[in-house]
Amino acid sequence: MYHSRLLSLSLLPAVSYTQLAPIDVREATISSLHGSLYSRLTTCRDIVSAFVARIERFNPSINAIIALNPDALEIADGLDEALSRGNTTGPLFCIPILLKDNYDALPMPTTGGCLALNASKPTHDSPTVAALRRAGAVILGKSNLHELALEGLSVSSLGGQTLNPYDFARTPGGSSGGTGAAIAASFAVFGTGTDTVNSLRSPASANSLFSFRPTRGLISRAGVVPISYTQDTVGAIGRSVVDIATALTVMAGVGYDPADNVTSAIPPSVAGADYTSFLAPGTPTSLNGTRIGVLEGFFNRTSSNETDPVNQAMDHVIVMLRSQGATVINITDTSTYNATAISAQMDVQQLEYREMLSAYLSSPNLTGIHPATMPELYHTKHEFVVSPAQYSYVETALRSSTANSSYSARQTLIANLTRALHATIVSNRLDCLIYPEQKNLVVPVGSPSQSGRNGILAALTGSPVITVPVGFSPSTASAPIGIPIGMEILGLPWTEGPLLRLAQGFDDRLHARRMPVTNGLNATVEVTSAYTEIPHITPLKNIPSVYPLGVY
Ligand SMILES: *[C@@H]1O[C@H](CO)[C@@H](O)[C@H](O)[C@H]1NC(C)=O
Ligand SMILES: *[C@@H]1O[C@H](CO)[C@@H](O)[C@H](O)[C@H]1NC(C)=O
Ligand SMILES: *[C@@H]1O[C@H](CO)[C@@H](O)[C@H](O)[C@H]1NC(C)=O
Ligand SMILES: *[C@@H]1O[C@H](CO)[C@@H](O)[C@H](O)[C@H]1NC(C)=O
Ligand SMILES: *[C@@H]1O[C@H](CO)[C@@H](O)[C@H](O)[C@H]1NC(C)=O
Ligand SMILES: *[C@@H]1O[C@H](CO)[C@@H](O)[C@H](O)[C@H]1NC(C)=O
Ligand SMILES: *[C@@H]1O[C@H](CO)[C@@H](O)[C@H](O)[C@H]1NC(C)=O
Ligand SMILES: *[C@@H]1O[C@H](CO)[C@@H](O)[C@H](O)[C@H]1NC(C)=O
Ligand SMILES: *[C@@H]1O[C@H](CO)[C@@H](O)[C@H](O)[C@H]1NC(C)=O
Ligand SMILES: *[C@@H]1O[C@H](CO)[C@@H](O)[C@H](O)[C@H]1NC(C)=O
Ligand SMILES: *[C@@H]1O[C@H](CO)[C@@H](O)[C@H](O)[C@H]1NC(C)=O
Ligand SMILES: *[C@@H]1O[C@H](CO)[C@@H](O)[C@H](O)[C@H]1NC(C)=O
Repeated sequence: MYHSRLLSLSLLPAVSYTQLAPIDVREATISSLHGSLYSRLTTCRDIVSAFVARIERFNPSINAIIALNPDALEIADGLDEALSRGNTTGPLFCIPILLKDNYDALPMPTTGGCLALNASKPTHDSPTVAALRRAGAVILGKSNLHELALEGLSVSSLGGQTLNPYDFARTPGGSSGGTGAAIAASFAVFGTGTDTVNSLRSPASANSLFSFRPTRGLISRAGVVPISYTQDTVGAIGRSVVDIATALTVMAGVGYDPADNVTSAIPPSVAGADYTSFLAPGTPTSLNGTRIGVLEGFFNRTSSNETDPVNQAMDHVIVMLRSQGATVINITDTSTYNATAISAQMDVQQLEYREMLSAYLSSPNLTGIHPATMPELYHTKHEFVVSPAQYSYVETALRSSTANSSYSARQTLIANLTRALHATIVSNRLDCLIYPEQKNLVVPVGSPSQSGRNGILAALTGSPVITVPVGFSPSTASAPIGIPIGMEILGLPWTEGPLLRLAQGFDDRLHARRMPVTNGLNATVEVTSAYTEIPHITPLKNIPSVYPLGVY
């Protein structure tokens, strides 16, 4: 799109390139890559080349990437040069990452997966992207998302449909589904996402991954295409607890940001925290003596082949907890904890979307030809994914604002729900609440919506959540090792550190994460010579006919 040199050049070896032992980046972690790099078994250019080779080989199967960063190799060379001088500052030194394509990052457009924003170019990195870069990360490219992050199916007018790497007949969850699918397939070490209701947690759950949704206010959302002032958060999705703890440390390191005034809430006790200090990799983290609440209202007890595997995986977790000496407390208040009812009565996205998106689009920090307001965006000649649910959402948002009387009424209900949640946790002396991210397996491609998800509780109450893999469904014809199942671990505000520690405790017992094997995704990709140029990736236009492209 923004890169015109020829793909064939990428096959030429670099003049100065010396081949070291080929690096296997399947399931690579920050620590495994640093081990190879700092013992001089590999170079940063090799590491970046190895991930790019996986993307070239496998992206056509899962369609998770919108664009690669044409600067990625130059950045790697700069880091190799710094390494040769012994300068390896930064916890993400040479760690390849992907950004959901609603984060501003130079030199790429920020499309939101939307054809109407294909040329929309930021003048600055978002503060979180700048922090990731300062920590040494190599931004490999941009991942697909549900168009403008408005649903959980991960289909967009610009990026097409991303497929679940564990089952090509299913969606990867969403809206950060490109990041989820890409990280599951080892296209990078971790990736960023955003979460207005479910969007960092549903892709983690559907792709056997870990993610954090931070406490509202912990991380600046500036420079990220917005939906909702109340509900939006930014975060990361990765393959291990310690990797997402490192990502959280770096992203939260932005601290107070006048460009996003919710960050004024950060208490001094967590400012500048190192979240990896809550973890002790190598030694099992004990769950003995913990008090874990289970939200009964967030299960679907109607037996079916789509719900039973989720309930069985959660039963297994509860048996494990009891055997480890944890106390499990059944929270049976299903009238307060009813995700369907909470969403219907309290969700405020549609009232905030127009004002928030218009403010982003009209910023002087956004250049390139692009609509200047939210109504202008939807009234361009460009086409959008218009499933029936999304059509009605946008139609309502075009007519709504925070001046609607329902806005303050909903905010009052949110405040009450938040008090009820905190009372549940405090009165039962709970370390956390657990429940499945989704009551059923992630839905097939072509479904009308990503039904059964439980993300709304944290989204409205601003609570932190760590999502962890807890198992798989039985295998099916299209899912050779089954379909992944994930669990949310929710706590009081600002308890990210203790929640990560609990997540580590769960994972030390469950070891549920597995790499996908569909269509050979588990194979190594030989890199015979490092890339000299980043190849151009074109998203597939594989949009299912049930999500027609149309105009508003
Ligand atoms: C080390 O690298 C960082 C960033 O890569 C740079 O800002 C710093 O100046 C370098 N320090 C030295 C001593 O070269
Ligand atoms: C954006 O799309 C328009 C057609 O709708 C096309 O003319 C233009 O070249 C595209 N811009 C970029 C940067 O891809
Ligand atoms: C915080 O930011 C929002 C959105 O930019 C704005 O509407 C609000 O007035 C700001 N509040 C304060 C106290 O500055
Ligand atoms: C559940 O059964 C339906 C109908 O037979 C089938 O389409 C679907 O793939 C099954 N799901 C799983 C996870 O086996
Ligand atoms: C948990 O701790 C208690 C008290 O320290 C101890 O008696 C018990 O054996 C422990 N349980 C497990 C499963 O380790
Ligand atoms: C909680 O109680 C319900 C019945 O009210 C029961 O079906 C469920 O299994 C219980 N959960 C736990 C974790 O004990
Ligand atoms: C506040 O929440 C509690 C617990 O769910 C509920 O019983 C009560 O009716 C709510 N109050 C209002 C005014 O919505
Ligand atoms: C949850 O709320 C929905 C919608 O208000 C309602 O249809 C359903 O019966 C409720 N479920 C429970 C268990 O109360
Ligand atoms: C533009 O971006 C810079 C860097 O993130 C930020 O400091 C500035 O506040 C932004 N300006 C506007 C108008 O958003
Ligand atoms: C906000 O008010 C407008 C105008 O009365 C109405 O059309 C719209 O449906 C309202 N939005 C919501 C979410 O209630
Ligand atoms: C519960 O699961 C059943 C069977 O899969 C499904 O028909 C029903 O719609 C689900 N209910 C909810 C509230 O998700
Ligand atoms: C990939 O997975 C398949 C199916 O589980 C297995 O037979 C094969 O050995 C695996 N290949 C590698 C390279 O791990």
